[in-house]
Amino acid sequence: MDKIVVEGGARLSGKIPVSGAKNAALPLLAAALLPSGTSTYRNVPKLADVLTMTKLLRMLGWSADAEAKGDSLVIGPPSGKKKPKLEAPYDLVRTMRASVLVLGPLVARYGRARVSMPGGCNIGARPIDQHLKGLEAMGAKVTLDHGYVEVEAKRLKGATIVFDMPTVTGCENILMAATLAKGRTVMENAAREPEIEELALVLNKMGAKIQGAGTPIITIEGVDELHPIEHAIIPDRIEAGTFACAAAMTHGDVLLEGARAEHMEAIIAKLRAMGAIVAVEAGGLRVKGPAELAPIDITTQPHPGFPTDMQAQFMVMACLAKGQSVIKEMIFENRFQHVPELNRMGADIQTTGRAAVIRGGMKLTGASVMATDLRASASLVLAGMVAQGKTEVLRVYHLDRGYEAIEKKLRGVGAKIKRAKQT
Ligand code: EPU
Repeated sequence: MDKIVVEGGARLSGKIPVSGAKNAALPLLAAALLPSGTSTYRNVPKLADVLTMTKLLRMLGWSADAEAKGDSLVIGPPSGKKKPKLEAPYDLVRTMRASVLVLGPLVARYGRARVSMPGGCNIGARPIDQHLKGLEAMGAKVTLDHGYVEVEAKRLKGATIVFDMPTVTGCENILMAATLAKGRTVMENAAREPEIEELALVLNKMGAKIQGAGTPIITIEGVDELHPIEHAIIPDRIEAGTFACAAAMTHGDVLLEGARAEHMEAIIAKLRAMGAIVAVEAGGLRVKGPAELAPIDITTQPHPGFPTDMQAQFMVMACLAKGQSVIKEMIFENRFQHVPELNRMGADIQTTGRAAVIRGGMKLTGASVMATDLRASASLVLAGMVAQGKTEVLRVYHLDRGYEAIEKKLRGVGAKIKRAKQT
């Protein structure tokens, strides 16, 4: 296993290319199960989670091949008379919860799917009851046995589904399922993340009839079949946001190439509130760090609120700000794993339930640290970049799930960071 070694104190300056969005790529790969031909995606990020999803597509019988050069992925249906396998096994779902995204497309197209039930995970219980409730409302029979959920429906029927809370992958699963259902499906209290809009855009390119993606009410008129497409995936707003924090924290000046401000409004607002200068330029988003960061109050919310996936990174900024900040995590109940590690580096953070109170202005010092989720690991890399001395972030596996070549990108703008073998 690898570790990331960071020497603190470098000021970042230059350009960082933003990769394709992980959380857009995963549902789009699953959506390639819907049409009857070969689809091509461009700007596919090279990430462990994307590899896991391609592995799953292959296990189901599809081909999923990267083109020799570049960042494309070509996904084709089972060849000849080969029957697809309609099961996502425990081993894959255990490594990546987003495997559950194959449920909607498989049931919609083949009338059946069996997916290992994802258990709780590092950041919370994360049930999938809303995914199943939606499919049941569309006439599917849902059974649970031996740790697997089996969903069957000859043909799904359109229905009105009111989600108990906006759920990103839940909404994506139902969106994909509804494209081939008979009749009209209406999703209320739908998630509004840019990745939902992206999925709807791609499904519409395939011939689906979806309206309202990006709003709380999405309407889908079912069609009989979909056709394959080519599509370039949107840039990753969370990767861009993470590097924006890196620039702001190091008094840097960084152009985030390709970053789309319209996907990052809540992030940009909080960067500005902390004193960073954020400018929309033709090539992306430029972020300049202030001489001194201001404290901040943040509450994570579904989009367009402040994203939970940026909470840990902003907490590191709050550690540097002069004064007290309060960060409330309202999406996942266990997403403060970075806190004990940041405190080991000299931060002063106290948590009570869903709130963290950060007394800023403490001196961070390098240490060996690790976290068991992706964004917490990213926050530790950021902390290492401003800490005195050397920081080792262990279990890089988590970072590799969601950040493409993070050490190369940061080195390119002057960070003293490298990957090394963890002994
Ligand atoms: N929830 C339920 N029942 C459900 C579905 C969700 O109770 O059936 C709850 C969850 O437990 C949570 C809330 O609803 O408290 C929102 O969860 P959501 O379903 O929106 O999360 P997700 O779809 O599992 C996606 C991203 C996460 C991101 C969240 C929130 C993907 C592949 N994953 O997860 O990304 O944090 O939305 O924005 O899109 C990450 O990239 O690091 C990451 C964890």
